[in-house]
Amino acid sequence: MDPATVDVPENMKERLKASYDAMAPIYNEWTIPHSKQRMAYLDKALGYLNQQKLSGTPTFLELGCGCGLPVTKTLLAYDGAKVIANDLSDVQISLAKENLISEPEDEIAHRLELVQGDMTTLAYPNGSLDLVVAFYSIIHLPRAEQEALLERIAQWLKPGGYLVANFSAEEMESGVLEKWLDDRGWMFWSGWGQEKTLEKMKKAGMEVLVADVAEDVLDRNSFLWVVAKR
Ligand SMILES: C[S@@+](CC[C@H](N)C(=O)[O-])C[C@H]1O[C@@H](n2cnc3c(N)ncnc32)[C@H](O)[C@@H]1O
Repeated sequence: MDPATVDVPENMKERLKASYDAMAPIYNEWTIPHSKQRMAYLDKALGYLNQQKLSGTPTFLELGCGCGLPVTKTLLAYDGAKVIANDLSDVQISLAKENLISEPEDEIAHRLELVQGDMTTLAYPNGSLDLVVAFYSIIHLPRAEQEALLERIAQWLKPGGYLVANFSAEEMESGVLEKWLDDRGWMFWSGWGQEKTLEKMKKAGMEVLVADVAEDVLDRNSFLWVVAKR
């Protein structure tokens, strides 16, 4: 089913949070077995990163981390990295905590910061992050917020830092489905489409290294998969 085109509902973020809070386990069960594509692009970004001489503690930010599997877990496997993992949904953040930290004194607990909240409210010092990861998450922001966030991500990245993310390959001003995956799955998506997304990344000061359009492994939409460098 294609999303219906609507104006961005005023309470969109609250509704989206309520949906992911209600159906986090259903979404996670549906998606985790099909993580190959995400992992392939994460590997590409980590491969680029490994070619660089990193200064200080590698610092990674994941936007819309969901339950932390398998992407956040892979970021934590990077030697000594500090990982900030953000999600709007309290339930996803609690699941990520359960999935990623086995004991409170686990050394991972000292390297992982779980941040519940809207990714557009995050703030980091300029030039402080080595890698920003956002899989199937920026697509839930209204388009104007996606553009503003790309500008901010570019500033947060260290020179030579990377963004790996996916976006809607088609232009979609604002689409809603009342029941995505579940009766409680009210959902909102948006996108600038391939050409304009890449333009906005370049305008933000990022060099696009990878830009592939591929049909999704689970639904029949196409996504733009990007690795970009500041
Ligand atoms: C489709 S899931 C993707 C989860 C995970 N990245 C993955 O690849 O499976 C989207 C996630 O983004 C989160 N999300 C949606 N809007 C957000 C926002 N404004 N700020 C932070 N997280 C958001 C949702 O709660 C949800 O966990």
